Amino acid sequence: MMPDGRLEMLDQRRLPAEEVWLPMPTYEAVADGIREMAIRGAPAIGIAAAYGVALAARAIFEQTSSADGLEVKLAPIYAHLAETRPTAVNLFWALERMKKCVVESAVLSGAARVERLFEEAAAISKEDRDNNERMGRLGADLFGPGTRIMTHCNTGGLATGGLGTAIGIIRALHHAGKLEHVWIGETRPYLQGARLTTWECQQDQIPSTLITDSMAAHFMQQGKVDAVIVGADRVAANGDVANKIGTYGLAVLCGYHKIPFYVAAPISTIDMETPSGEAIEIEQRSPREVTHLNGMAIAPEGMDAASPAFDMTPSSLIRAIITEDGILEAPYDVALAGLLG
Ligand code: MRU
Repeated sequence: MMPDGRLEMLDQRRLPAEEVWLPMPTYEAVADGIREMAIRGAPAIGIAAAYGVALAARAIFEQTSSADGLEVKLAPIYAHLAETRPTAVNLFWALERMKKCVVESAVLSGAARVERLFEEAAAISKEDRDNNERMGRLGADLFGPGTRIMTHCNTGGLATGGLGTAIGIIRALHHAGKLEHVWIGETRPYLQGARLTTWECQQDQIPSTLITDSMAAHFMQQGKVDAVIVGADRVAANGDVANKIGTYGLAVLCGYHKIPFYVAAPISTIDMETPSGEAIEIEQRSPREVTHLNGMAIAPEGMDAASPAFDMTPSSLIRAIITEDGILEAPYDVALAGLLG
């Protein structure tokens, strides 16, 4: 959010080649940005949607000179933003929180009410930043000097309001002088690892190596991985985790190689209303993301391709879930219920 009230987003589709900031003047622009992956990563999607609601409220106020009746007027806007991506629960969590703020702010009128909604969106962003720091500290305490971590997708500053979830822990380990190396999986087909995590690690001078997803087993077999840490898009009430496609494969490999597999996720990613991983909707993206690279066909014209954006890792494969309020271990249904009261 710019000091003059404009919203801009770093266009993640253009990274690492170009750093282009996109103006986000309307909630429709925010929704398009989420759907088309200009902004991505579960917590960042939630933060963007929260600002989308505030932008819509401001537009209504400017058009009608009134902020009355926002509860009703914003209903189609919540629906529009909610339809952008189905899997990351942070989107729905943030929209619920904004809805509650809209109801509670009815005592205010005009610009003050709109201002209150921008403050709530900023609070969601700031809380996520603070949570990243707490997760980073807690997670880094799990490891000793010389630790070699493998990670997947992008869970850093681009995907959150702060230093990141899994990458936040990697950053904390680096600052504590305990990190020897990071293996970054490229994350086919959208290449969040190759394009974004590498970019963030380079900026922080974190010792890291990019590998294709198919190399993970090889480096584990060679004894070069001490732990895998990933983020999450949704944690079900039994501890099953939906995260970027390829995560489940890494968890299975960890089981075979006896390498601990950790998930780092803020409480806003936990969905107690979803009993288990099977109930999580997995986003299916365009097959073109698989058949083409940078617009260039890598498969014959007309070839069928599948593109699930996420997969589900059963909780039995997870050593611990690292949240801002504590490190949870199995049985996860009990641990999660205890954490969330
Ligand atoms: O499709 P994306 O790039 O939005 O998927 C992102 C992930 O799967 C991340 O691992 C997850 O959102 C955690 S980000 C802190």
